[in-house]
Amino acid sequence: MRNIPLDKLTPQEFLRDFWQKKPLLIRNAIPDFQGLLTRDALMELACCEETQSRLIIQRNKKWLLKYGPLSERDFTKLPKKQWTLLVQEINHFLPSARDLLMQFSFIPRARLDDLMVSYAPKGGGVGPHFDSYDVFLLQGLGSRRWQISAQRDSRLIADAPLKILQNFYPEQEWVLQAGDMLYLPPNYAHNGVAEDECMTYSIGFRAPSHYELVTQFLVYLQDNIEVKGWYADPDLQLQDHSAEIGQAMLRQVSTILEKIKWDQKDIQNFLGIYLTEPKSHVFFEQPEHPLTQSLFLHKARRKGVLLDLKSRMLVGDKTIFMNGEVYKVSVDTYKLLARLADNCGIVLDLKCTEETEKILYQWYVNGYIVIES
Ligand code: SIN
Ligand code: CO
Repeated sequence: MRNIPLDKLTPQEFLRDFWQKKPLLIRNAIPDFQGLLTRDALMELACCEETQSRLIIQRNKKWLLKYGPLSERDFTKLPKKQWTLLVQEINHFLPSARDLLMQFSFIPRARLDDLMVSYAPKGGGVGPHFDSYDVFLLQGLGSRRWQISAQRDSRLIADAPLKILQNFYPEQEWVLQAGDMLYLPPNYAHNGVAEDECMTYSIGFRAPSHYELVTQFLVYLQDNIEVKGWYADPDLQLQDHSAEIGQAMLRQVSTILEKIKWDQKDIQNFLGIYLTEPKSHVFFEQPEHPLTQSLFLHKARRKGVLLDLKSRMLVGDKTIFMNGEVYKVSVDTYKLLARLADNCGIVLDLKCTEETEKILYQWYVNGYIVIES
């Protein structure tokens, strides 16, 4: 899959000069981009239990927000102007959305979050705000006016149901037409307003806070650490105050806590699990009448297998991570599965290892991969 054109920049130049540093407007990144779905299809997805959606309406200078799943009724009484519908993880539903994301493979998959699509009639938008994300805003249907600012003032309107800047000082602005794209680094103030009926595709890259990484790593350690021994005090001395936590107890517990150790392998495993763990609303559909392993392998050799659209797969040193699970594998198995992770699909060759066959069959039964149709 080829990379999306970056205004004549090579991916290396983009990473060096723009990524996480400054915005970049790319006119005609995808010539004749028609969008991937219609307004009605987006509304239908917003009504489904498995998606995360938001409907935002501006009325008399007030912002109203409703979280999905939405119902048809939510769409019947909408004003003519100034509302917007946002639906996350469109790549879990449309193969074409995953293909679009694959054009951003010059950024590591470990950083990729999802494709969000918005629809708005004239005047619609989510107001001026910051995101803690890197985002590529690709224009689909219609046109949108983007205003951006490197301002430091990040104060928010206090009583709004979404994060909207109290003061916005636009420094640059453009109208984006179908196929144009704007890259924004995290914490760059922006405001996009629909010029007419408009759909925008946000390719978002996850940037966890240090707090989140640390607390999630502690959860990983809790599940994976092995610490032996019991607290013991055969030399216990009489204390003046029986309610006091004594010095000897403090010393002993601090020695015990020094047993908390981790290495690079733990950090890799933590990241692999953390970054591929399905979110709580994501469920995999298992095949209703699964093929036998030999029939599955026969088909996988003829037609190939694809990652299910909801699967998240990453690889590390001799290790494969699939939807929060860890697999330590042989070199040959690793080579083949790493290709599956990179390309989201592979055709099996005849000489693949028994280990690979077993893993792939289990993934097929779990609904993590599907036979290419
Ligand atoms: C939108 O598509 O309306 C919002 C995208 C954004 O500002 O992050
Ligand atoms: Co934004």
